[in-house]
Amino acid sequence: MTLLTGDTLFNGKVGRCFTGDFEGFFRSIKRILALPPDTMLYAGHDYVLEYLDQAEELEPANTFIKEYRTRYNPDLVRAVLGDEMKVDPFIRFNEPEIVNMLTGRGLPVDTEFHRFRSIMSLV
Ligand SMILES: [Fe+2]
Repeated sequence: MTLLTGDTLFNGKVGRCFTGDFEGFFRSIKRILALPPDTMLYAGHDYVLEYLDQAEELEPANTFIKEYRTRYNPDLVRAVLGDEMKVDPFIRFNEPEIVNMLTGRGLPVDTEFHRFRSIMSLV
């Protein structure tokens, strides 16, 4: 399966929620995350290196980010969802490492939506 994610999901980061409708934006992200891990994603912009830098700042112990970075090809920017779910802290809001990081910053983590809002507040 192939998905054009436009400005909703980039490589290493979700898009901005320009409308302020975070619940709707969260539902869109959840629909994408429910797709098969081998879904090939094509984002609307190439912010790969910048966003991988941010991902490493938020999750410095995530060694997969470095591996993902080596595959970066500016002539063909794409990634499978399964790999995206290993590097993008903004869709890793249920991973213990991210939950611990959010908790350490005193951010709400009680529900999945709280965790999503908390990680989104760090951009
Ligand atoms: Fe755009």
